[in-house]
Amino acid sequence: MRRPSMSFVKPKSILSTILLVCCMAIRLCLCSSSVVSSLKALHVQGQFSFDGNEFAATDFGNQFHFLPSAVLHPKKVSDIAATIKHVWQMGPASGLTVAARGHGHSLQGQAQAPQGIVINMESLSGQEMQVHRGKFPYVDVPAGELWINILHECLKYGLAPKSWTDYLHLTVGGTLSNAGISGQAFRHGPQISNVHQLEVVTGKGEVVVCSEEKNADLFHAVLGGLGQFGIITRARISLEPAPKMVKWIRVLYSDFSTFARDQEHLISAENTFDYIEGLVIVNKTGLINNWRASFNPEDPEQASQFVSDGRTLFCLELTKNFNPDEATKINKEIKSLLSQLSYIPSTLFVTEVSYVEFLDRVHAAELKLRSKGLWELPHPWLNLLVPRSKIHSFAEGVFGSILTDTNNGPVLVYPVNKSNNFHNIFRWDNRTSFVTPEEDIFYLVAFLPHAVPSSTENNGLQHLLSINKRILNFCEAAHLGVKQYLPYYTTQEEWRSHYGPRWEVLVQRKSAYDPLAILAPGQRIFQKAISVL
Ligand SMILES: Cc1cc2nc3c(=O)[nH]c(=O)nc-3n(C[C@H](O)[C@H](O)[C@H](O)COP(=O)(O)OP(=O)(O)OC[C@H]3O[C@@H](n4cnc5c(N)ncnc54)[C@H](O)[C@@H]3O)c2cc1C
Ligand SMILES: *[C@@H]1O[C@H](CO)[C@@H](O)[C@H](O)[C@H]1NC(C)=O
Ligand SMILES: *[C@@H]1O[C@H](CO)[C@@H](O)[C@H](O)[C@H]1NC(C)=O
Ligand SMILES: *[C@@H]1O[C@H](CO)[C@@H](O)[C@H](O)[C@H]1NC(C)=O
Repeated sequence: MRRPSMSFVKPKSILSTILLVCCMAIRLCLCSSSVVSSLKALHVQGQFSFDGNEFAATDFGNQFHFLPSAVLHPKKVSDIAATIKHVWQMGPASGLTVAARGHGHSLQGQAQAPQGIVINMESLSGQEMQVHRGKFPYVDVPAGELWINILHECLKYGLAPKSWTDYLHLTVGGTLSNAGISGQAFRHGPQISNVHQLEVVTGKGEVVVCSEEKNADLFHAVLGGLGQFGIITRARISLEPAPKMVKWIRVLYSDFSTFARDQEHLISAENTFDYIEGLVIVNKTGLINNWRASFNPEDPEQASQFVSDGRTLFCLELTKNFNPDEATKINKEIKSLLSQLSYIPSTLFVTEVSYVEFLDRVHAAELKLRSKGLWELPHPWLNLLVPRSKIHSFAEGVFGSILTDTNNGPVLVYPVNKSNNFHNIFRWDNRTSFVTPEEDIFYLVAFLPHAVPSSTENNGLQHLLSINKRILNFCEAAHLGVKQYLPYYTTQEEWRSHYGPRWEVLVQRKSAYDPLAILAPGQRIFQKAISVL
């Protein structure tokens, strides 16, 4: 097999570091000006912009800022193909890279391309979405489309996608490059399991349609592929009839074991809720109405009376979908399901909202935060997948000892079972590039803080980063078999160990679909070969 011409730079001494930096700087300067002129000569229907590209050096994480040389605002898929083909034909010497940018909600510069070309995928989103009804309905969408827009379009036909993220102002291409996990995943699998077909532009500039049946290896590679194998330009997403309303329920636990046992019970029942998540409440933060959810219980009086007294509590969050004519039946079902649980009896909080209001809940909170200037802050988020057999050690070490005070944001915890086969379909396909722990059941644990600038207190960026570090060190030392979700590593050794036995497949796929390592440099897995060295 021909090895891809890429290497990971790991300088051995200070001298070689200096040399390397100098060489890279010279190379980047050289290429920067020639890039501009060569791109100006390229025929595209959209346009390149060479100035005012600061937006492409920013993301939700707000910690990494690398300016590209150019941004492509494509009008057609052929614009993307022509641009990548051009970079491909320049060969490894140019050092030029290309990053697709969805909505820029990455956390550590993953959608940035230092001195390279950023493709603004949202400018493709003007193309039509096409809903197909029938026994197995689906929608064809441009990959730069936001999930919220897809939801609204599908609802016109009484349909909706099945698997979501907690926040819908993200692009299809961005979430499919990761996985797309939320409280529906225990049943439907992640978003990458609810896609029938993709159109992809590879790292050689070829436009390829792929699915389970056709170019299956590329299809699986791209799903959860962190943008490494191609740029997704269109996706065919599976739909179901959309409910009108949602019963939204929160109950509290003081004991992690009971909480986790009830969660595991609910995700394995055939008849169960439609959405199952959980929150850790540390020292009273976000008891009922935290930033990510405009949860207004029917009895706010009762909710406000509940005081956590500095204890750590666990909040189980559930929804049941229904249409107005089924209200009585649904209330009965909910009652029966809740009767199987062991939450603190006085802590049942219920509300009723439309399906759209529920799915778009984080956006409502975003608007509030934006108005207070609290949205565009650094977000040192950490997302982990923890195997079930280790979740109690994890909870003891992390919730019990590392995270004793609020970390300035929500902490989510909920399980999925990979082997669950609702309707005889396995929803966690290990042929994709998405990495999970080995066990059937694993928990998603998400620490979602925002940092307050120039704060030296507990909510300053350095402090929050040091908590993340402590959590990761703890997992490592205790051999918990934890995998990062939305992974961030700085060395190739760490990436190898992240992929484990799948590393070879990853490298093979890289050499097949992006042999020059042009795509998504911000993930820092592969580096384009540096020919001047
Ligand atoms: C408030 C908030 C809530 C979130 N909640 C969830 C959640 O509940 N569940 C969950 O799973 N995730 C969640 N996420 C994480 C989210 O899925 C990722 O941050 C995702 O990358 C954001 O999508 P984006 O469109 O902004 O992608 P970007 O940040 O623009 O891109 C992400 C990566 O994918 C690549 N990429 C982008 N578009 C394409 C494409 N078309 N083809 C190939 N590669 C592409 C980029 O180069 C980059 O490497 C949340 C993020 C935020 C900010
Ligand atoms: C809990 O928060 C209060 C302020 O809201 C603070 O004074 C106290 O120290 C915190 N408790 C712990 C255990 O950190
Ligand atoms: C996960 O689901 C499968 C299939 O339903 C089941 O056989 C298995 O026992 C479950 N795993 C655990 C740990 O409960
Ligand atoms: C992938 O899953 C299949 C079936 O679910 C299983 O037989 C196979 O061993 C798995 N492969 C790997 C590499 O884990």
